[in-house]
Amino acid sequence: MKNELCFGLIGAGRIGPVHAETLAWRVPQARLVAIADLKQPAAQAVASRCNIPKIVSSGAEIIADPAIDAVAICSPTDTHADLIVAAAKAGKHIFCEKPISLSLKEIDRALAAVESAGVKLQVGFNRRFDSNFLRVRQAVVSGEIGTPNLFHIVSRDPFPPPLAYLRPSGGIFLDMMVHDFDMARFLMGDEVEEVFAAGAVMVDPGFARENDFDTAVVLLRFRGGALGTIDNSRKSTFGYDQRVEILGSKGKIASENRYPNQVIVSGERSVYSDLPYNFFMQRYTDSFTAEIQAFTEAVLEDKPIAVTGADSRMPVVMALAAGKSSDEHRPVRISEISA
Ligand SMILES: NC(=O)c1ccc[n+]([C@@H]2O[C@H](COP(=O)([O-])OP(=O)(O)OC[C@H]3O[C@@H](n4cnc5c(N)ncnc54)[C@H](O)[C@@H]3O)[C@@H](O)[C@H]2O)c1
Repeated sequence: MKNELCFGLIGAGRIGPVHAETLAWRVPQARLVAIADLKQPAAQAVASRCNIPKIVSSGAEIIADPAIDAVAICSPTDTHADLIVAAAKAGKHIFCEKPISLSLKEIDRALAAVESAGVKLQVGFNRRFDSNFLRVRQAVVSGEIGTPNLFHIVSRDPFPPPLAYLRPSGGIFLDMMVHDFDMARFLMGDEVEEVFAAGAVMVDPGFARENDFDTAVVLLRFRGGALGTIDNSRKSTFGYDQRVEILGSKGKIASENRYPNQVIVSGERSVYSDLPYNFFMQRYTDSFTAEIQAFTEAVLEDKPIAVTGADSRMPVVMALAAGKSSDEHRPVRISEISA
């Protein structure tokens, strides 16, 4: 059995450097041997920081490299499906950022290529590996809080991405809330059968010009009868706001924000703490490490992947249902969405 997995990474934008650091510094069985970006200075900067020996400009060069066992796809969403298909055909294992595609047909094409090549694919739903959210799931699965009746997620970014990022991203439901749709299934251990979504532009009028929202709320109806809400904002002035609460028949479980320190300052007029972690790069470092560790082990030890093909597809179905719901101002059943 091989005891080391050689990775090539594609895309050195916001998330690429996070995974590059994880591969280079935090997962002992992983070795990052090459990085690609259309923008060479971006790739060069990450390569020098993480000691990556080879810099190229295209994903194709990573996929063609015989020294590479696995690719980490961190380029924009509209490039994922083609890169997955090409990597699978070349026999490479694949870690791909979420979502695989904005189109279910494209997702199915990518999943079929992976299946027929017999390689492993894991999609970057990193929040499944967060220790707080794992504890919330355990409380539901074990019956510790009884039958879950109400589910709430608050998921707000500290500031919006550049407007140029938005168009290939698919908009707030497919790009941002897709993580929360995944969490809804994962934490509740149940499928959603209906969504009712509303969006607004409250942060930056540029979102309206991109035909997108920067603020959104979705009401979920689960198959088991429970109700849920997800609220997203592209701007939270106090940092990355990532909270979950589930109310069950025997109690509730809640996960609060994470902080760089636990200090509380008490003064003459108020008691306060410092701000939470500012964004995903800091807040989810542990879960990014755990997901890459799990993927690496699954490949090296030929174990099942923690995030299945269905897990990578269903949040996109839910996001498409949310988009339809907000367009048509009505609840949309998941069964209305087909490829
Ligand atoms: N899991 C998470 O928390 C998380 C966080 C952020 C982004 N993402 C996902 O990661 C992906 C990238 O997002 P980002 O915010 O890093 O985007 P970004 O725009 O900041 O970076 C993308 C990089 O890819 C490069 N690129 C574009 N096309 C390429 C190609 N064909 N070959 C090689 N390089 C190419 C660009 O030059 C850019 O440097 C998206 O799918 C997004 O949904 C996931």
